[in-house]
Amino acid sequence: MLALMKPFPPAACALLLLSVVTTGLAEPSPSRQRELLHLVRQDCGSCHGMRLTGGLGLPLTPDALRDKPVEGLEATVYYGRPGTAMPPWKSILNETEVHWIVQKLMTGLPNE
Ligand code: HEC
Repeated sequence: MLALMKPFPPAACALLLLSVVTTGLAEPSPSRQRELLHLVRQDCGSCHGMRLTGGLGLPLTPDALRDKPVEGLEATVYYGRPGTAMPPWKSILNETEVHWIVQKLMTGLPNE
């Protein structure tokens, strides 16, 4: 089903599918979850701050994200924000993983 949806070209269509598709899916595997947390701390942290409290990028703490629409945040991570330093992650992360990461950011990352 995912494979069928991927080729649809228009961004708006893909965006809609992204939010529909991610809501019902299972979580990444436990080992992938550990990799994702590492990626968030290292790679996202390089711009958003090692504690994600902001740097070149905006803060990604639960407080900062509380009032922002989840779909918009997921789209930002997946597609990046053209014209800003925020890069797209769709070559590295799938929709389920982006959804999972945004959930973690909004509820707070677990302590190491
Ligand atoms: C090269 C620097 C850079 C990296 C790496 C980066 N970001 Fe960003 N990110 C930014 C910038 C800059 C913005 C603000 C864009 C703007 O001005 O709208 C941003 C915005 C965001 C936003 C929107 C925040 C909001 O309040 O609207 C989210 C969510 C986000 N990034 C998540 C991530 C995640 C998750 C990762 C790692 C997978 C990541 N970013 C990696 C630079 C980066």
